[in-house]
Amino acid sequence: MTLNERYQNVAVIGAGGKMGSGISLLLAQELTLRQLHPDNTGKKFRLILMDVSADALEGLKSYLAKQAERFVQKKGEKLAAAIPALATPDAAATFVAAMNGLLETTTDLKGLAGSTLVFEAILEKLDLKLKIYTELKEICHPQAFFFTNTSSIPIKALDEGAHLDGRVIGFHFYNPPAVQRLVELIIPEKVAAGLEEMSVQIGRDLGKIIIPANDVAGFIGNGHFMRDGLHGMAAAQQLAGQRSLFQSIYMINRVSQEWLVRPMGIFQLIDYVGLDIFQSILKIMEPYFPDENLHSELIDRMVAAGVKGGQFSDGSQKNGFLKYEEGRIAGVYDLDGGKYRSLGSEDWRSEADHALGSLPAGYHSWKSLVKDPEAGEKLAAYFGKLVTNQQPGAQLAKAYLERSKAIGELLVSGGVARSAGDVNGVLMNGFFHLYGPVNNYV
Ligand SMILES: NC(=O)c1ccc[n+]([C@@H]2O[C@H](COP(=O)([O-])OP(=O)(O)OC[C@H]3O[C@@H](n4cnc5c(N)ncnc54)[C@H](O)[C@@H]3O)[C@@H](O)[C@H]2O)c1
Repeated sequence: MTLNERYQNVAVIGAGGKMGSGISLLLAQELTLRQLHPDNTGKKFRLILMDVSADALEGLKSYLAKQAERFVQKKGEKLAAAIPALATPDAAATFVAAMNGLLETTTDLKGLAGSTLVFEAILEKLDLKLKIYTELKEICHPQAFFFTNTSSIPIKALDEGAHLDGRVIGFHFYNPPAVQRLVELIIPEKVAAGLEEMSVQIGRDLGKIIIPANDVAGFIGNGHFMRDGLHGMAAAQQLAGQRSLFQSIYMINRVSQEWLVRPMGIFQLIDYVGLDIFQSILKIMEPYFPDENLHSELIDRMVAAGVKGGQFSDGSQKNGFLKYEEGRIAGVYDLDGGKYRSLGSEDWRSEADHALGSLPAGYHSWKSLVKDPEAGEKLAAYFGKLVTNQQPGAQLAKAYLERSKAIGELLVSGGVARSAGDVNGVLMNGFFHLYGPVNNYV
């Protein structure tokens, strides 16, 4: 079966979720363009959107229509040049009508009968995914290919558990899928003929940068992020030997953002992902790395206290390690006191800032470098100063850089990543770092 034939029967499971809705949008756009292309006259493309929540599916349909209109407005000229049906003043209406014509929604897995490409983005639970794949195997086309968005479960566990005979691959979009360019392609040892090549082509069709990873729990992205987060939490707990824990969390968050020139501090990033999600990914990874300590009692205590981070349905950030007001960090959670300590102009904050010392000479913020063509030279000069700077902030940052590099190297030596370049590529494209963890700065 060619890819164009497979595109005529596509399905998304968990379509109403955070990841599923973005994946549905990307596929709806691609399939609509194919449907309208003169080469495909007489062919019928289908996109089945499946979720257990009927409400989520209703919301998804209006979201897709709204986004489709924007898509045509933004890409109008390019689309018109390739597809005559879109070279008219009412191109947006034509596109939305064609898109609605290929969408089907269902809350019943049986609605996937005949599907040949299935994108799965249901909850990160092995037993649930196995149950769904076991049923899907009977319902879908006998040669269907499955693309799981799992963040951490080895693909082999899905393949063997549901007897898919190599027809499943990890197609790990980053959040939000419609915006983030990276897809980590997790290739299991046993993979059906043609699936890997087809995945690369689908990635291209959807406008993604594909970085391959081997099938080891956590893969590259979470393989680095989990260990990096554990380092940040351990560093804060170590500092807390001399001061309060909330003050230490504030300090490590600053160091991991400003001194490391990253887009977010580590505690802000854990809040963004969700403390409970972070904890559950660690739990999934733990049995696969018996020689490593992938456990944090700090995250366990926070989750037990009901502090979970993540986002509200309007996309705004919920409180986690840090408190947010209008998108800005406004406080830090004090586990012992069970409340947030305001950042305001409190004494504890000035004392913590003073203890870190000033940023090394040549510092530029992430924001100021992100579009700077000379960012590489500026970063090299800055880190050159940082590693010899004796102030506590710089020393903490140096230890952080060393740990992040060691994690990157471990991912290569442990057979997760095929090269240091792939590790760096995931961190730079998926996490928006300006430099890869495997570098010459330390
Ligand atoms: N959120 C992220 O940042 C992120 C990033 C990359 C990968 N992932 C992975 O993507 C997957 C989905 O995560 P999410 O954050 O979008 O979760 P989510 O909770 O937002 O969405 C899950 C969706 O699955 C639906 N669902 C639950 N059980 C179902 C079933 N039996 N059949 C059909 N649909 C069902 C839910 O109704 C929901 O709409 C997980 O495997 C996760 O690890 C998440």
